[in-house]
Amino acid sequence: MSVTEQTADKMKSEVFGEISLKIEDLCVDFLLSGGDLHAIYHLDFELPAHKMTGLVGESGSGKTTLTSAILRSVSTPGEITQGKIWFENEDVVKLSNDKLRKYRWRDVAMVFQAAQNSLNPSMTIREQFAETILAHRKNAGNKEMEEISKRLLKQVKLEPERILRSYPHELSGGMKQRVMIAFAQLLDPPILLLDEPTTALDVITQDYIFTLIRQMHDRTENTMLLSTHDIAIVARVCDYMAVMYGGRIVEMGDIFTMFEKPVHPYTQMLIKAAPSLVGELKERVAIPGSAPDLMKTHKGCIFADRCPYCEERCRTEEPEPELIGKEHLAACHRADFAGKEGQ
Ligand SMILES: Nc1ncnc2c1ncn2[C@@H]1O[C@H](COP(=O)(O)OP(=O)(O)O)[C@@H](O)[C@H]1O
Ligand SMILES: [Mg+2]
Repeated sequence: MSVTEQTADKMKSEVFGEISLKIEDLCVDFLLSGGDLHAIYHLDFELPAHKMTGLVGESGSGKTTLTSAILRSVSTPGEITQGKIWFENEDVVKLSNDKLRKYRWRDVAMVFQAAQNSLNPSMTIREQFAETILAHRKNAGNKEMEEISKRLLKQVKLEPERILRSYPHELSGGMKQRVMIAFAQLLDPPILLLDEPTTALDVITQDYIFTLIRQMHDRTENTMLLSTHDIAIVARVCDYMAVMYGGRIVEMGDIFTMFEKPVHPYTQMLIKAAPSLVGELKERVAIPGSAPDLMKTHKGCIFADRCPYCEERCRTEEPEPELIGKEHLAACHRADFAGKEGQ
């Protein structure tokens, strides 16, 4: 996974063509009293430009930590202990505070889980939009602010006049989350990170919001990374899918290949366990075993204990991501075998 060409603001990868971010050998540890928890472990990742990439994996697999690391906002006691995050020829890990402030929101915006709670309860939505625009563009005029806010609220199918004069408590959870999605677009960032953006909402509202997010993407063609534990959503709205397990990305590829020909046994199990992808309830197969202990150093493959195809080598050698086919990477010693069996 080497960068073959790097111009002023375009990075190209051998696997995914134009990419917006390139992560190299990233480690994020939570420094706990009992020891270090390796939440992200020597992770390499390329984010395809102008596409929607879904980041999936069980709870605790590292989705939030990875997304926060991209924004350099891992919560304490978490720390980026190693690695690089390339964005437009700069390593985000090393950005000065001044540059970091511009990078957040202007270059990369994030909508996080329960983002709705981060709205200020004592200010109207209009005041909050104005404050955010002014924080980044000191000379923005009132008329311009009003126009931008209204356009963005319309895009998430909210009635601008009513919303702008409301206080957060006057809006439903789904409305607030849509306000946050509009908010994230305020500075037209080339990259948008969405970490479980609908988790607190009911299923129908979730579905509706994902449709809006996809429409927004088609209009702006910005790069999106959408993390969710719901693989069916990814199948419906994303172009690519990356699968996380124990702080690693174990498989990534274009959405068609990932669902038609997944080669990592964990991806295969995730697909089989997804309620809305498998028609008959009885065909659903829960993934046996429990999540790996991230305080431990794993010598071989981190999935070995739960893997039906595990052999001796899997216990001693950590598999590296390898090219399986066009735009398809997997870190599995048994990829050849599991890929054939799993279909
Ligand atoms: N603030 C924290 N303190 C300690 N451990 C944390 C903290 N945040 C996350 N972790 C640990 O890091 C790992 C990855 O968590 P997270 O990134 O939240 O996963 P996901 O978003 O996929 O559910 C988990 O083992 C989790 O327990
Ligand atoms: Mg999370």
